[in-house]
Amino acid sequence: MDRSDVHTAVLRDEVAELLCPAHPKVLVDCTVGIGGHGRALLEAAGPDSQLIGMDVDEDNLRLAKEHLKDFGDRVRLFRANFSETAVVLAEANVASADVLLADLGVSSNQLADPERGLSFSTDGPLDMRLDDRLTTTAADLVNRTNEKDLADMIYKYGEERYSRRIARAIAAARKMGPLERTGQLAEIVRRAYPAPARHRRRGVDPATRTFQALRIVVNSELEKLARLLELLPEILSIHGRAGIISFHSLEDRLVKQAFVSWSATGRAVLVEKKPVVPTEQEVRGNPRSRSAKLRAIIKIAA
Ligand SMILES: C[S@@+](CC[C@H](N)C(=O)[O-])C[C@H]1O[C@@H](n2cnc3c(N)ncnc32)[C@H](O)[C@@H]1O
Repeated sequence: MDRSDVHTAVLRDEVAELLCPAHPKVLVDCTVGIGGHGRALLEAAGPDSQLIGMDVDEDNLRLAKEHLKDFGDRVRLFRANFSETAVVLAEANVASADVLLADLGVSSNQLADPERGLSFSTDGPLDMRLDDRLTTTAADLVNRTNEKDLADMIYKYGEERYSRRIARAIAAARKMGPLERTGQLAEIVRRAYPAPARHRRRGVDPATRTFQALRIVVNSELEKLARLLELLPEILSIHGRAGIISFHSLEDRLVKQAFVSWSATGRAVLVEKKPVVPTEQEVRGNPRSRSAKLRAIIKIAA
């Protein structure tokens, strides 16, 4: 049965084990999604814990509310960007987080929803906003950015070696009229790929990296992550633990650098030197987990 629209929390057991070895009280899930990790954290932390969950997507918050309803008032949910975690904690009237988790990127139900335009496998509007209050869509970017900046964007955020060819093909195609659909863009990118490279990328759609780049820019993903990492020393309790799950090298690099430089001050220690990755069994059951990397850190001094 293909249930690619059902989101399964990745590294669920590892998250609970690494972040909740004692009995933390204040759990903060910065990307609560549909509540999979939230439930795991609440169960591992025990009955005295409470969860503050955040997400930018109102639909996912509704699902989280439903999925976590058996925890009653131990769960409080906020529509907020995790770059605003300090503000949310103040609003929730808690001083600091004993556990903080961010599971970056998008959930399977968001990816599978054609109306969000996140996927090239189903046709939909070129949107890609996780937060519908944002004003710039992926269509705005591909139709309004000049060819050189578009190439730079696809290179920098998609790590796409054929970025120039792709930007040239987009600039040519939009002369006929605005690009509005994910299927249309995916086809332009595929055709822009040199044929031998198209065949070499067995199983990986040539549009993957371009779509990644656009999504990162539309949602300012790296800036928001950098801000969260900057806030961590301030919002975590002493002996508090933070875990970040990333899905591509641009995110993981930021997390690794921030954790290594924090631990170099002697005020934090890494839980594991190397990132924790899913077992083969998890990847078989949930292919989306294959690129996940979990890094965790403990604050030991103010
Ligand atoms: C991979 S999913 C999380 C799934 C969740 N861990 C679960 O078990 O259900 C990522 C979620 O983070 C949200 N998100 C992405 N960037 C965000 C940000 N900067 N601030 C808050 N939420 C964000 C997305 O809307 C999505 O719901």
